[in-house]
Amino acid sequence: MRWMIVAAMVALVGCKQQAAENKAPTTGAEGAGAPVVKKLTVGFSQVGAESAWRTAETNSIRGEAEKRGVELKFADAQGKQAQQIQALTSFIAQKVDAIVLAPVVETGWDVVLTRAKEANIPVILVDRGIKTSDESLYTTLIASDFVEEGRMAAEWLAKKTNGKANVYELQGTTGAAPAIDRKKGFEEVLAKYPDMKIIKSQSADFTRAKGKEVMEAFIKSDREQIQAVYAHNDDMALGAIQALDEAGMNPGKDVTVISVDGVKGAFEAMVAGKLNATVECNPLLGPLVFDTITKVRAGEKVEKFIKSHDQLFEQTTAAQVIGSREY
Ligand code: AHR
Repeated sequence: MRWMIVAAMVALVGCKQQAAENKAPTTGAEGAGAPVVKKLTVGFSQVGAESAWRTAETNSIRGEAEKRGVELKFADAQGKQAQQIQALTSFIAQKVDAIVLAPVVETGWDVVLTRAKEANIPVILVDRGIKTSDESLYTTLIASDFVEEGRMAAEWLAKKTNGKANVYELQGTTGAAPAIDRKKGFEEVLAKYPDMKIIKSQSADFTRAKGKEVMEAFIKSDREQIQAVYAHNDDMALGAIQALDEAGMNPGKDVTVISVDGVKGAFEAMVAGKLNATVECNPLLGPLVFDTITKVRAGEKVEKFIKSHDQLFEQTTAAQVIGSREY
């Protein structure tokens, strides 16, 4: 019986400690009674819900906030930078304790981030980086290395096709870091293979519907030439696969398809033999985001780029791996 009481007390102290870590500092003006401790408040400006990957990221950050008792102010920008700037302005006015920003595009953040800095609100960038003349405007970037993802995709494709392929590229959102960097890394490797060329490249905005639409246009004009498809995310690849299937072009066999993200739908397509490979990009950033905010608030120094480590998955092992995928 006594050990049960001791265990209960230990658990209670543990819970109190975890909750205390997530409280904002008291103002000192709470009066003589028990101190009123404010809940930690974090504003999260999300790009939107364009892909399965992004939904997984949203769920990870929301779930972790709930688990830790953090009040999360969530704003979905529906793919518009103007809405993200509005959300950030509102978070600053509400004096949140930290801002988490997944920026839709790379540029155009300096004015609003300067306001956050003046208000002493740390800004944590998640999954996408920005271009700024003043790196002190954000605290850290927690993300994958998109250039490296592009390189991994190209190296794999070069091996698969013996360095000979007419590649059709589906780019992500114009101006977004993953679209710019995944293209850059891919082209960097292609420069080593003179017989591997990008024949056409167009944005399909990271969505399945546009992936299908753009692929249909490629098929209409270039049907006989298409040997490989490189999509900057799985959703666009799944749309392209649908277009190739409908045109009777045998994706995964006659046309090699590779993409980035590693979502469940991509594994299903690999098991079905339609997608050849996917480069993982981890969206489960919630725990790392709140650990980082806790460190920053405690005055600890954090790395400017906290990098996720990703790997490439192939059709051949997809069936073994699919059961353990979390997103
Ligand atoms: O920023 C990460 C990218 O954005 C993911 O690859 C894509 O699916 C998402 O929309």
